[in-house]
Formats: sequence, C-alpha cells, structure tokens
Amino acid sequence: MSLVRADASMKTALVTGACSGIGLAFAEQLAALGYELVLVSNRKAELEQVAARLAATVKTHAIVMDLARTAAAQELVAAVDQLGLEIDILVNNAGVFFFGEVSDAEPAKIAAMLELHVVTPSLLGRHLGRRMRDRRRGHLLFVSSISAWNDFPGIALYGASKKYLKSFALALRSELRPWGVNVTIVAPGATATGLYDPKVVDVGKATRLRIMTGPGPVARAALQAMFAGRALVVPGLASKLFAWGMALAPRWLIHLVRLRVPWLRRP
Ligand SMILES: NC(=O)c1ccc[n+]([C@@H]2O[C@H](COP(=O)([O-])OP(=O)(O)OC[C@H]3O[C@@H](n4cnc5c(N)ncnc54)[C@H](OP(=O)(O)O)[C@@H]3O)[C@@H](O)[C@H]2O)c1
Repeated sequence: MSLVRADASMKTALVTGACSGIGLAFAEQLAALGYELVLVSNRKAELEQVAARLAATVKTHAIVMDLARTAAAQELVAAVDQLGLEIDILVNNAGVFFFGEVSDAEPAKIAAMLELHVVTPSLLGRHLGRRMRDRRRGHLLFVSSISAWNDFPGIALYGASKKYLKSFALALRSELRPWGVNVTIVAPGATATGLYDPKVVDVGKATRLRIMTGPGPVARAALQAMFAGRALVVPGLASKLFAWGMALAPRWLIHLVRLRVPWLRRP
C-alpha cells in the first residue's frame, strides 16, 4: 500500500536518530511525501551525508546533537526556532540497546539510555505537543518496542524504558486528542539495523532466517498508522504474534528462560 500524506497543511517533520536504521527509513519516506525535514542525530558525518542526499528531494536541515542529556529537548526546540520552523510531525525514534544484567551495566550507560528513551522524548512531547495543541494540529510518533509487552531480564532497562514510552504516549494521546493533535506509538519487533552489537547478534543471519525484517516496512507501517490517527501499531504479523505471546507469558516461564539463556550469568 502506498503512503499518502493525510493533511496538506502539515509541511515539516522532525526525525530523531535519522542517520541510520528505522529513523533513516522514516526520513526517506517522509522526504518522498514532500515534507521539509529536520534530521537529528549524534554522528556529524553520517547525518550530513544523509541530509545532503535527501536535500535533492526536499528542503532538509541537519542538527547534530547528543539527545541523551536532560537539556537536549530544550536545545533542540531552540535550534528549530532558529531555523524559523514549526514542526508538524515529530518522530521520536533515537534509541540504543545493550544486553546484560543491571548489576553489571555501567551507570553512565544506564543514565544515557534513560535520558534518551525517557527524558528527551517526554520533554519533546511536552514542548512540541504544546505548540501543536495551540495550532490545533500535528502528529507525535513514538518508537517503543514489543519488549514493552512484558518484563525481561537481560534487557530490564531497555524494556522498561520502552514500556514507559508506550504508557506515556498513550496518556499523552488522550490529553492532546481533543485539541486535534494525534499521538501514535509504533512497537517494532526485531528489525535489521545497527542497533545490535554485531558481536552478539548476527543481523544478516537473522534476516535470512526471517527473524528480522527490514526497517523500511516498519517505518511505512508506522507512518500509515500515524496518518490514519491510530493509537498503536505493531508492524508485521510475526511481531504481532510475538507481542501477543509475550503478553501472555507467565512470570515463571520468563524466570525459567532467564536461567538458561547464555547471555545472563548463572549463580
Ligand atoms: N532494531 C530493532 O530490532 C528495534 C526493535 C524495536 C524498537 N527499536 C527502536 O527503534 C529505534 C531506532 O533504532 P534502530 O533499530 O533504527 O537502530 P539504529 O540504526 O542504531 O538507530 C538508532 C538511531 O538513534 C540515534 N542515537 C543513538 N543515540 C543517540 C544520542 N545520544 N543522540 C542522538 N541520537 C542518537 C543514532 O544516531 P547516532 O549513532 O548518530 O547517535 C541512530 O540514528 C530505537 O528507538 C530502537 O529502540 C528497534
């Protein structure tokens, strides 16, 4: 199914984590629909390369910024104001991932993940949602994960932060809906991107075995759901079934798996 932009009055989109993976797919698909783009990520060279390529299609701005900081959301809004833009679509996509027990994780890594997945999307939702509420239009898209459907040892911080995003965004949706602002959550399953440490996850093999899908279909399903004003989408049948199975998995089963998986310590 081809993507159709819902409302011609909306002209600009901001995508966080736009230089790779699902964020890049969002940027490419929004560019194909004609949106002026603000692309944000932490790697200057990669981001500028993507922005230069998409600038052949639409007006594109690159903002290099570490979003894993409490001040980032405010700084990003100030940078957008300096460009003289109003954001009509915010795609809160930037994220990181690591396997391991909480007790073994570096405190700075934990704090950065929570800043990136919890604090910055919440504050961006607050700042840009408030402006959209004033204009009575706009879309906020939050990238959660099917790991939000239960509580998993080994990805406790990642899963809990994605669960927060889902819960926060659903409540924000109810707050903003009466004002004509849409909030959509996309919860992807395993997707073939650079999110995973190649020493731990063989993305090529997982894709060949169809355990992982490409980022393009995930972004497409998310944008379709967003333009349709839907609350939540889990892209792909396999991920839907997986999310459903995870939601039903009893605690004892998760504990049993925890005792057997090779990437967690055994007492
Ligand atoms: N891949 C999956 O299986 C999967 C499944 C469910 C949900 N998700 C979610 O999908 C989103 C996109 O991930 P992806 O799979 O596309 O992985 P990815 O290719 O690694 O993309 C992550 C993006 O986030 C940006 N980012 C990371 N830390 C940042 C920081 N401190 N400041 C600014 N930008 C930062 C990265 O840019 P820089 O490297 O330039 O910082 C990159 O563009 C994430 O929220 C992830 O949790 C992914």
